[in-house]
Amino acid sequence: MEKSNGLRVIMFPLPIQGCVNPMFQLAKILHSRGFSITVIHTRFNAPKTSNHSLFTFLEIPDGLSEKDKSTHDVTLLLTLLNRSCEAPFRECLTKLLQEKQRISCLIDDAGWIFTQPVAQSLNLPRLVTNTYKVSFFVGHFVLPPLRRDRYLLQQGSEQDEPAEEFPPLRKKDLLQILEGETEVLDSYSDMILQTTKASSGLIFVSSCEELDQDSLSQARKDFQLPIFAIGPSHSYFPGSSSSLFTPDQTCIQWLDKQEDNSVIYVSFGSVVNITESELLEVAWGLRNSEQPFLWVVRVGMVNGTKGVEAIPEELMERLEEKGKIVKWAPQQEVLKHRATGGFLTHNGWNSTVESVCEGVPMICVPSVWDQLLNARFVSDVWMVGLHLEGRIERDEIERVVRRLLLEPEGEVIRERMKLLKEKVGRSVKENGSANRSLQDLVDYISSF
Ligand code: UDX
Repeated sequence: MEKSNGLRVIMFPLPIQGCVNPMFQLAKILHSRGFSITVIHTRFNAPKTSNHSLFTFLEIPDGLSEKDKSTHDVTLLLTLLNRSCEAPFRECLTKLLQEKQRISCLIDDAGWIFTQPVAQSLNLPRLVTNTYKVSFFVGHFVLPPLRRDRYLLQQGSEQDEPAEEFPPLRKKDLLQILEGETEVLDSYSDMILQTTKASSGLIFVSSCEELDQDSLSQARKDFQLPIFAIGPSHSYFPGSSSSLFTPDQTCIQWLDKQEDNSVIYVSFGSVVNITESELLEVAWGLRNSEQPFLWVVRVGMVNGTKGVEAIPEELMERLEEKGKIVKWAPQQEVLKHRATGGFLTHNGWNSTVESVCEGVPMICVPSVWDQLLNARFVSDVWMVGLHLEGRIERDEIERVVRRLLLEPEGEVIRERMKLLKEKVGRSVKENGSANRSLQDLVDYISSF
């Protein structure tokens, strides 16, 4: 670690897994470059402070009821958090600024929409982190106008065609993203846009030129801000994930017993929910593929049940002959393991990038929002995975697993993935694009 530079950075992660991991990776990187780190966090999904003895933690109340905490509606959760955290956050930050050590800036997630005016009123520069793929972050501001233009009603039957308004999505993907209750989401997106534009800079914590070149140029034009794409941030400190749940380490011993590239790893991330019938289709598909599998079934992931108990006993016995089911896995270690040959994923951006970094080809089962775009990059642009096209059906799953793990087509995909892995791997090494961007970020923060 470099000597302390006497500067403190305040970080404020959004309390959802997909945002916590990259924020802590960034905190570790900045700490290793000499900055002191204070993390302000909500009581809800509080990080395990004992895992980060080098940082200072300050908890603020979040006003969430037990019912709010158990909602599956992420937009609602973020709206409630934004409503109730402003006052305690302001109080906490004001106190910190009265302390002796120089505070260089606040770094927090784009999804916090009250922090920009708070930081501004206290004369503190704010840098915004973003955990989406750059192309989604830049592109998704087109969604509210499309919805206003009643895009949904204009569509005919050519749903597999490219959506020119938001490439490389197909029309059916765009329709899926535009579905549902949206007024709240549209005004939330607009606030994100305004507050990001007013900030002192934008940090893409899991992207780099190699994955997002065109969109980065677009982002620089649209935002007129210093923009940093520091690459897959977990690559700087491999294996140091900041899980909100406890990973089941027995996965690794189980993987040790499997053959190289034989296991299909299955996970739908930290927020996606599935129905009981989808759970059973996945279970049958995996079992019928006759390939070993490691499957994460989170507590509460299956609508209306706690989790795996929705699987009947006889099926469970058959599943256990071939696979292992856990509540939470040490995902980065799993993807790194020589036995892992494929990843059936919901294509959250962190999972997608982690898979690329370990060269594991994917089977795409995107559920909502940015996942649909990430999946199209995987299957249609980089061609490092197969797309289930929404068919969560046992026969389809069986077929796609076997195509990826056993057939020559899978070999070709694996080779392509190897090249992408190498390209992205180079970007975080010395003189790589992401590494240079990180140095620019460190210099920029030091200049405040
Ligand atoms: C959310 C959104 O759903 C996603 O669309 C967006 O891109 C990021 O924010 P999430 O669904 O949790 O994220 O998915 P993802 O981005 O893939 O992040 C999940 C994180 O949890 C990954 O870092 C992964 O390594 C970790 N994880 C997941 C585990 O450590 N163990 C597990 O068993 C599952």
